[in-house]
Amino acid sequence: MRLEKYLADCGIGSRSQCKAYIRQGLIKVNEMIVTDGATQVTKQDKINFKGTPLILTKGLYYMFHKPAGCVCALKDPSQKTVLEYFDAPLSKKLLIVGRLDKDTEGLLLLTDDGDFLHHLTSPRRHVAKTYYFEAVGKLSTDAVRQVEEGMDIGDAAFTKPGILTVMAEEDALVSGTLTIYEGRFHQVKRMIKALGCQVTYLKRLSIGGLTLDEHLNPGEFRPLTEAEKQILLLDKEGKEV
Ligand code: URA
Repeated sequence: MRLEKYLADCGIGSRSQCKAYIRQGLIKVNEMIVTDGATQVTKQDKINFKGTPLILTKGLYYMFHKPAGCVCALKDPSQKTVLEYFDAPLSKKLLIVGRLDKDTEGLLLLTDDGDFLHHLTSPRRHVAKTYYFEAVGKLSTDAVRQVEEGMDIGDAAFTKPGILTVMAEEDALVSGTLTIYEGRFHQVKRMIKALGCQVTYLKRLSIGGLTLDEHLNPGEFRPLTEAEKQILLLDKEGKEV
């Protein structure tokens, strides 16, 4: 396998980040700095990134029902992390696919496959993510259209077009779903705020064609099936998304 793919599979960065690490002389193969990403390596080679050995163990794919109150970080000195729900050695191998806020619940994927992670989080792929929200306030009358057209939420660029479905709206309480195709910081909360409301509850229901298993209670996880992995990687025509 090419060195740059090996590094991406280990989860240290996207393919292009890995190429840059190689060019910068940060990668050693069998104690020697290697600067050509096309170099062929195998599991038998000793590969180091900034002095840390990298071990390739692809093949772990989990769906986790993230509860509120834990953070999506590999380590945190003061707060519970999602990885603390997994026992060692699993907790040492898994990477978190994207981020949910501490108070957000719902579908979170974890894997040891760096390619899979970058496939789902790459800003170029626009994977859909659907959230259920509850909020206080009154939504702008043209909220659905604003979301559909892309909105100004204070960033350099408008959001990509999304889909807002209002389920209930009474006494200044609103609930609904919002589908977005990006992963900006606090994006759902900021979009709902720009539409006149404050999110009080947020839960991710789906990523691409994969929906949170309703049998999983908050804090529980299970491996993805082969079919679920394919759903995440392929579109309806069976082409790579
Ligand atoms: N948007 C948010 O505001 N928070 C999340 O956790 C995810 C999406």
